[in-house]
Amino acid sequence: MTVLILGATGLVGAKCVQHSLADTRIDRVIAVTRRPMDTSHPKLTNLIVDYEHLEDYADGMRADAVLSALGTTLKQAGSPSKFRRVDYDYQLRAAEIARKNGTKTFVLLSSGGADAKSVLLYTKVKGQIEAAITKLGFDRLAILRPSLLLGERQGHRPAEAMATWVSDRLSFVFTGALKRFKPIEGDIVAQAMINAVQKPYTGVRLVENLEIFTWAKS
Ligand SMILES: NC(=O)c1ccc[n+]([C@@H]2O[C@H](COP(=O)([O-])OP(=O)(O)OC[C@H]3O[C@@H](n4cnc5c(N)ncnc54)[C@H](OP(=O)(O)O)[C@@H]3O)[C@@H](O)[C@H]2O)c1
Repeated sequence: MTVLILGATGLVGAKCVQHSLADTRIDRVIAVTRRPMDTSHPKLTNLIVDYEHLEDYADGMRADAVLSALGTTLKQAGSPSKFRRVDYDYQLRAAEIARKNGTKTFVLLSSGGADAKSVLLYTKVKGQIEAAITKLGFDRLAILRPSLLLGERQGHRPAEAMATWVSDRLSFVFTGALKRFKPIEGDIVAQAMINAVQKPYTGVRLVENLEIFTWAKS
């Protein structure tokens, strides 16, 4: 089993790499990044790419399953079109290459509230990429929709740091009807993404926030 990980230097992507290297069901891990990783391992290949010319790297992207934890923020990207370039164009191009390469399983890290008709840019683009990748017709597509992601990131992300601080102190709020919005550790999401590769299903599975906790366990 070869898995390919997009966004392998990010909060969730780096955990996907870590877990898949430790997972005896996985023989080889291809981590696609735009800058060299500081991890080395006999199972790991770090494929450094220019996402603007991703087709040039298609041969090195052959895998049984692709896990995508790629994404940026509007603030980091600098404009709505640049945000869309990463979260929609780059991810779709990678998925198209995977489909052409014969990859059977695609695991997409989307977001709670993803909706192609949303008036909010973030949730709209997430809904649109879900729909576009669904159309490609992978044998198995798992779409994970987490709530706020918790964990240490490289770089300064004040909005997420503040949200984490607040959610730590208000964890008692996430009970009853609000339980489905419970913030979730990037580590748990990564384990659920890896387990999604092994799960016995066909077609498309939408995995909402609370179900991610369950998928991470089995
Ligand atoms: N933050 C949340 O609370 C939250 C909640 C739900 C869903 N999500 C979604 O979950 C996904 C993963 O989130 P995360 O927090 O793990 O992300 P993250 O830590 O910001 O990592 C994002 C990854 O995407 C890569 N990337 C960003 N911009 C790029 C560009 N222009 N070209 C190439 N690679 C680029 C980063 O590479 P570099 O290391 O080179 O920058 C990194 O590997 C994202 O799609 C995010 O929208 C986030």
